[in-house]
Amino acid sequence: NNGAASFVPDRLDLASLRTAAAGCRGCDLYRDATRTVFGEGPERARFMLVGEQPGDQEDRRGHPFVGPAGRVLDRGLEEAGIARDEVYLTNAVKHFSFTPRGKRRIHQKPTAAEIDACHPWLDAELAVVRPEVVVVLGATAARALLGPSFRVTRHRGEAVPLGEAVAVATVHPSAVLRAPDRDAAYADFLADLKAAAHAA
Ligand code: URA
Ligand code: SF4
Repeated sequence: NNGAASFVPDRLDLASLRTAAAGCRGCDLYRDATRTVFGEGPERARFMLVGEQPGDQEDRRGHPFVGPAGRVLDRGLEEAGIARDEVYLTNAVKHFSFTPRGKRRIHQKPTAAEIDACHPWLDAELAVVRPEVVVVLGATAARALLGPSFRVTRHRGEAVPLGEAVAVATVHPSAVLRAPDRDAAYADFLADLKAAAHAA
């Protein structure tokens, strides 16, 4: 397993990427997960949102952000005035990582090696979609896009350069769901999404 690079096709369009990613074996996560959950959205989008990795429901259904975290994200996008048809949604890692516990599958944070292994897909998506604003959802996406020393807690809501685009980092929507004061956490999350909306 040498990472995803050798699976990325020469032809850079979303349909070709999606087809190739379905057969990726760039790290071991493909073994236990149900399927690759690739990014979704228009071929050219003003906003690209990057999460961590598919969760249990995303793995079952094959689409990013269709579980509880996705509902928080959908609400935030709507309230921030970011239309769904201007959004390409993806994850830093394209396979679900979990440990079985009885019948349940407990989400496991992807390792730095898995984030690196999957990075060629993210680069390819960026090259095709060429977003104006990349919304970085949580520490895993921040590590993948902004490097291991970037601190979301310190720099959330700030516009930072990322290639031709600007990146705006915020917490992961699942962190909003876990926060002791969920309303306050959501308000901060929404403020960051509004900052991203204005960065375009
Ligand atoms: N969490 C993520 O980071 N991505 C998803 O697609 C779902 C939950
Ligand atoms: Fe390939 Fe990424 Fe899946 Fe690993 S997680 S097998 S690198 S698509």
